[in-house]
Amino acid sequence: MLLLQLLCLLPGQALSQPPDTLRESKVAVLSLGLRGRPLREVSPAFLSLTLDASLAQDPRYVTFLSNPKLRTLARALSPGFLRFGGTKTDFLIFDPNKDSTLEEKIIWELQVKQEACGLRSGFSAVEELLLAQWPTQETLILKEQYRKKHKNTTITRNTVDILYSFANCSQLHLIFGLNALLRKNGLQWDNSNAQLLLDYCASQRYNMSWELGNEPNSFRKKSGIYIDGFQLGQDFIRLRHLLNNYTLYRQSKLYGPDVGRPRKHTQKLLRSFLKSGGKVIDSVTWHHYYVNGRSATREDFLSPEVLDTFATAIRDVLEIVDGTVPSKKVWLGETSSAYGGGAPKLSNTYVAGFMWLDKLGLSARQGIDVVMRQVFFGAGTYHLVDANFEPLPDYWLSLLYKNLVGTKVLRVSLKGADQKKLRVYLHCTNTHHPKYREGDVTLFALNLYNATRYLQLPNDLSSKHVDEYLLLPHGKENILSRSIQLNGRVLRMVDDKMLPALNEKPLGPGSILGLPAFSYGFYVIKNAKAIACI
Ligand SMILES: *[C@@H]1O[C@H](CO)[C@@H](O)[C@H](O)[C@H]1NC(C)=O
Ligand SMILES: *[C@@H]1O[C@H](CO)[C@@H](O)[C@H](O)[C@H]1NC(C)=O
Ligand SMILES: *[C@@H]1O[C@H](CO)[C@@H](O)[C@H](O)[C@H]1NC(C)=O
Ligand SMILES: *[C@@H]1O[C@H](CO)[C@@H](O)[C@H](O)[C@H]1NC(C)=O
Ligand SMILES: *[C@@H]1O[C@H](CO)[C@@H](O)[C@H](O)[C@H]1NC(C)=O
Repeated sequence: MLLLQLLCLLPGQALSQPPDTLRESKVAVLSLGLRGRPLREVSPAFLSLTLDASLAQDPRYVTFLSNPKLRTLARALSPGFLRFGGTKTDFLIFDPNKDSTLEEKIIWELQVKQEACGLRSGFSAVEELLLAQWPTQETLILKEQYRKKHKNTTITRNTVDILYSFANCSQLHLIFGLNALLRKNGLQWDNSNAQLLLDYCASQRYNMSWELGNEPNSFRKKSGIYIDGFQLGQDFIRLRHLLNNYTLYRQSKLYGPDVGRPRKHTQKLLRSFLKSGGKVIDSVTWHHYYVNGRSATREDFLSPEVLDTFATAIRDVLEIVDGTVPSKKVWLGETSSAYGGGAPKLSNTYVAGFMWLDKLGLSARQGIDVVMRQVFFGAGTYHLVDANFEPLPDYWLSLLYKNLVGTKVLRVSLKGADQKKLRVYLHCTNTHHPKYREGDVTLFALNLYNATRYLQLPNDLSSKHVDEYLLLPHGKENILSRSIQLNGRVLRMVDDKMLPALNEKPLGPGSILGLPAFSYGFYVIKNAKAIACI
């Protein structure tokens, strides 16, 4: 309706040179960088996932990973990495001789009876029982994280098997975080437990990559042990030598140091780590959260100022990397909206998409090569898939991103709008998508105004067909809804093995792109013939 009114008000394509009176109007004109080379290119695994190591706090719950629905959902987000890490990383001890739990055994048996990656249907009785107990376990996990008092947990061969099988069958590459707090006399890293784990993984021919420790900047708070950047660098060199002892892992990758938010003392640790051990890592990893899950508000999730704090954090990290190991790629090794498991009733709703989509956009634009989303599945509210194995709005947003957004990043800007409140990003379209071709481009946009805003393509693209993928909340909770619609259709799994079609809404040439108040969406400009994308 609104669009129609607007089109009557404005004489069609005569808008290419907006008069000054339009500057503060609701229509902004896009300027797209389609000529010349792309701004940069990110990894095909750019959007990647994490599982928090707290899932193994009681290893019985790792068996959730053999749920068929979870595997269907994970596979749809491949290619990508699956990082298994987090605070608990430094409190997990592998025991190759310990028997697995009864639950692990039963579920593994069920799985092995199928062919390697066959999908079971429905739930087993054991799974039902564990699911019923999960809320209690989840409370325990979050409490332990909050109190910063951590206990050691023993994991078995079966824990590793289930984890690897989940990654491999979902076509994700597993990155396993090794315990860095096992120390000889509190000083040098003790690699003997890592060696037991590597022996086992090599014996099973598990192809995976490695990290060592999680957020070493807060080791003292978590364990009383202080490790400086120089020592941690030496420990990574020791791990590299250990990996080189295995034929299978000589070429395997090592990532680190997984530092937290780049505050002053963390910056210092990162710099000295990179000087000491930077040569043995394949990418530099750091973590980012916008806000504290316990105090975050709805306004934080919609605030351009909060979103912009991320850009400053990226600059701080890139400056340190440029000054120490300038050729290394920089990854977000763990990231989400709010730390401490997420913000209840926010991190798992439509409103979380503003932080997530803007993070993906800014990361690619500013030179982050891979972004690993905390978490795919697990305790808290920042998960993509909830404890009923139901995908949340950020899952669907990730799925659309994977499908539509390619690796080449292009320039884009707006005339006639505050670019803090109307945020736009541009990539070449993902050409693995059957409907699209080289030269097509994907624009994605976030409207943080409490009113509809319109985007207009520049004159030279006014003859192009555009496919719209507008995501809006579904239901009366509005932006706090856990349900999302694409072009007016609510997104739901068809069954355990099938996802719904993500249908476009074709817009005719010269259409103005309308974004309702507080919304986001993707627009594929077909046949744009962007030189940067060919
Ligand atoms: C975990 O186990 C290691 C090795 O036995 C030990 O040094 C450390 O103190 C233990 N940590 C906790 C929190 O019990
Ligand atoms: C990995 O998955 C493939 C199927 O995608 C399967 O054929 C292969 O056996 C699996 N590898 C391992 C080590 O489990
Ligand atoms: C292991 O996985 C990596 C990443 O997927 C791949 O490039 C490599 O070829 C694999 N190595 C082996 C020995 O299969
Ligand atoms: C690698 O293997 C050799 C021979 O078994 C051993 O002497 C050496 O200590 C190992 N290196 C590491 C870092 O474990
Ligand atoms: C947006 O505007 C509506 C109607 O004026 C108002 O009720 C609502 O609170 C506003 N939302 C925000 C987040 O400012």
